[in-house]
Amino acid sequence: MLHKNSSIIETLNIGTEKLFSVGVPGARRDSRILLAKVLNKNSEYLISNPNLIIEKQLEGLFFSYIKRRCNREPVSKIIGEKLFWKGNFLVNSDVLDPRPDSELIIESVIKYNKLPSKEVKILDIGTGSGALLLSLLNEFPGSRGLGIDKSLNAINVAKENSFRQGLCSNANFAVMDWCEGLKAKFDIIISNPPYIPTAEIKTLSPEVRLFDPELALNGGSDGVKNIEIVLQFIPKILKKSGFAVIEIGHNQLPLVEKKIMSNRLKINEIFRDLSGFDRCIVVSLVGK
Ligand SMILES: C[S@@+](CC[C@H](N)C(=O)[O-])C[C@H]1O[C@@H](n2cnc3c(N)ncnc32)[C@H](O)[C@@H]1O
Repeated sequence: MLHKNSSIIETLNIGTEKLFSVGVPGARRDSRILLAKVLNKNSEYLISNPNLIIEKQLEGLFFSYIKRRCNREPVSKIIGEKLFWKGNFLVNSDVLDPRPDSELIIESVIKYNKLPSKEVKILDIGTGSGALLLSLLNEFPGSRGLGIDKSLNAINVAKENSFRQGLCSNANFAVMDWCEGLKAKFDIIISNPPYIPTAEIKTLSPEVRLFDPELALNGGSDGVKNIEIVLQFIPKILKKSGFAVIEIGHNQLPLVEKKIMSNRLKINEIFRDLSGFDRCIVVSLVGK
């Protein structure tokens, strides 16, 4: 039997019901975003054209997306893009989805940078999709940046994002194990290292636990192993007048503070996230 073609509103409702029935949070919103992506339109178009009939092939593609979302794959990974700060970035299974909390890094760099844009040299340690570095390069036109990551696949995503953002000539990316072998010095260093304690990973939502790379999450037994490594490198590669901004886990400040002092660094400011947790620390060299 041939099924009749369905309208936008009918398809949207079936998608929502399927997501709702398996407990996906924000079922209506996700169904709408996925249908908008399939139709290559925005959400307003869906609302204004509820009775428009959808081609069978596109309906099939939409329900394949719904199936993936029912398996808790994040919408961003299904549609292959994620909004961060002022840009839209390519994401896939090789990179962490850039998080709203990490926008604090951008805000604090904007607050602390006193150099003219063209003179700014930025290093992003553990760059992933490159979203943080590229957002900063967009904020400071003419600045230059290096993004490093242990994952070659992540570096390829970051390179593609620099191309899409028109920042190829400002941004370089390299596969590196932390900053091992890095000789240059930078005005600004940013890092959002993996800081989830290993035992906590299994308690995270399936969207994170199953679809963000383990390399991007795992911070070792107490969660701060990688933060400590990054802090050890900073005095060697930060210019005297420069500053670094590091993202940390919600309860990690006491552990991290000790490491900051033992690495000849001082805290300039601690930024809290929207839930009121210490999330982002600005540090500079002692005695500068
Ligand atoms: C929490 S993710 C942050 C990604 C991106 N900066 C963001 O905020 O969306 C941490 C990143 O550190 C990278 N990483 C893990 N171990 C590393 C290492 N030994 N050297 C360099 N990068 C590493 C991971 O591949 C991952 O991309």
